[in-house]
Amino acid sequence: MAPTVSEPETTIIDGKAFAASLTEAIAAEVAGLSAAGKRAPGLAVVLVGEDPASQVYVRNKGRQTIAAGMRSFEHRLPADTAETDLIALVRRLNADPAVDGILVQLPLPAHINTNAVIDAIDPAKDVDGFHVVNAGRLAAGLDALVPCTPLGCLLMLKHVLGDLSGLRAVVVGRSNIVGKPMAQLLLQENCTVTIAHSHTRDLAEECRQADILIAAVGRPGLIKGDWIKPGATVIDVGINRAAGPDGTSRLVGDVDYDAALGVAGHITPVPGGVGPMTIACLLRNTLTAAKARPDSGF
Ligand code: GUN
Repeated sequence: MAPTVSEPETTIIDGKAFAASLTEAIAAEVAGLSAAGKRAPGLAVVLVGEDPASQVYVRNKGRQTIAAGMRSFEHRLPADTAETDLIALVRRLNADPAVDGILVQLPLPAHINTNAVIDAIDPAKDVDGFHVVNAGRLAAGLDALVPCTPLGCLLMLKHVLGDLSGLRAVVVGRSNIVGKPMAQLLLQENCTVTIAHSHTRDLAEECRQADILIAAVGRPGLIKGDWIKPGATVIDVGINRAAGPDGTSRLVGDVDYDAALGVAGHITPVPGGVGPMTIACLLRNTLTAAKARPDSGF
């Protein structure tokens, strides 16, 4: 009888469970501070306008901040807020000793210059890691507050693979929020890193070289099953709304998930992969920022 050739198994990375254990560890550390008579770290989140997806994110961030034993300060401003007023609020938060981390929810309304707002945030409170000081420190290999989504991806990769040294990593997407900092983090882990983007000549062939494939472009199902090297670890950062087979809207990633099963060694699902890790890393960055303050007393 001919031997049966079974498809390689794909392990699904449970980002939700991993984020829950990370959040638990952060909450335990915060509880320890409180038991020692220290104040709770504080996170300020600023939302301008009424974008429904942003409202959901901000609500979740507030809930989880409080669940971890930290203080949450929410500032909701109308969509027609002037840039100068938003920057004045950021400066008040910079000066507020109860606030360790500041997050201004993006995207901002079109009349506001996003870079000017990010630039106004004290780099020591920039828990998003978007300020040029933090981006520059990360690129220079110095201690920095690192953007939450790529940090969450890195923690999952290290959890699954251990040492990443010498692995080929392909990051598809070159945004300041995910692609570029992700590539910097992987470089620090001694990976051989390629950043691919919309002008890359043969994207499929680049992806096929990857031991680690990070998809962060925001295009549903862009990465096909035969673009994946057998056994590769696939991290899907995309969160896209797409019509399902029954016509109803559902969340899908940038990877053709069903086609990747049986090819990839490990894969993150959408939802339940990278998403929950992003908020857990925001709490982690808030605790890191609080502990780094010279006047924190922690
Ligand atoms: N909008 C979507 N993701 C993010 C994020 O990670 N940080 C901020 N500030 N806004 C976002």
